[in-house]
Amino acid sequence: MGSQAPDLDSLLPPQCKFVGDDFLTFDSKKDKLGYGGSAVVRRCYNTKLGLVAVKCMEWYSGKNEWSKDIEKHLPKEIGVSLSLNHENIVRVHGVVIWPRSLGLVLDYIPGGQLEELVTNWNIDPLPWSVRLRITYEISMGLCYLHNFTKKDRIVHGDMKPENVLLT
Ligand SMILES: Nc1ncnc2c1ncn2[C@@H]1O[C@H](COP(=O)(O)OP(=O)(O)OP(=O)(O)O)[C@@H](O)[C@H]1O
Ligand SMILES: [Mg+2]
Repeated sequence: MGSQAPDLDSLLPPQCKFVGDDFLTFDSKKDKLGYGGSAVVRRCYNTKLGLVAVKCMEWYSGKNEWSKDIEKHLPKEIGVSLSLNHENIVRVHGVVIWPRSLGLVLDYIPGGQLEELVTNWNIDPLPWSVRLRITYEISMGLCYLHNFTKKDRIVHGDMKPENVLLT
């Protein structure tokens, strides 16, 4: 366990820092958008941005320490994410710090996961034109990451249908 929070002040430009009061949460069950290995994602209302998704990562371990997991993910995820600007990559607006967790403030993507769409047996198989469009848009996002700068090429490393969100 680390004993100090990563220095967010030096990492973040002022417009990317949010506080808890900037957000209204709705129904805590209904507004849980999903979760993964490291985070719970909730839909919230932000006073400036409107509907957003906030990816909340618990950091409080009971002893006022940052957990190893957060320490590992945070600087990378925040620093890189804030500088990305592509229509096929979820936009990251900034960071909010709550007493026991911190959140990445993201555009809210309303269409759910690709995983849910391709495993839903109650709907007809997707037409090829839709499959091609989804594939094309994923490729455009990855291409952007792979050519981010000449020096920094970003590899997503976890491409899977759960991580593809539909607009
Ligand atoms: N911006 C968003 N808008 C709507 N739903 C979202 C958004 N971000 C995440 N979700 C939902 O929450 C789920 C988990 O989010 P995410 O994949 O970012 O977390 P994770 O799995 O813990 O992280 P990672 O995939 O980077 O390991 C997604 O699969 C999706 O269903
Ligand atoms: Mg995920």
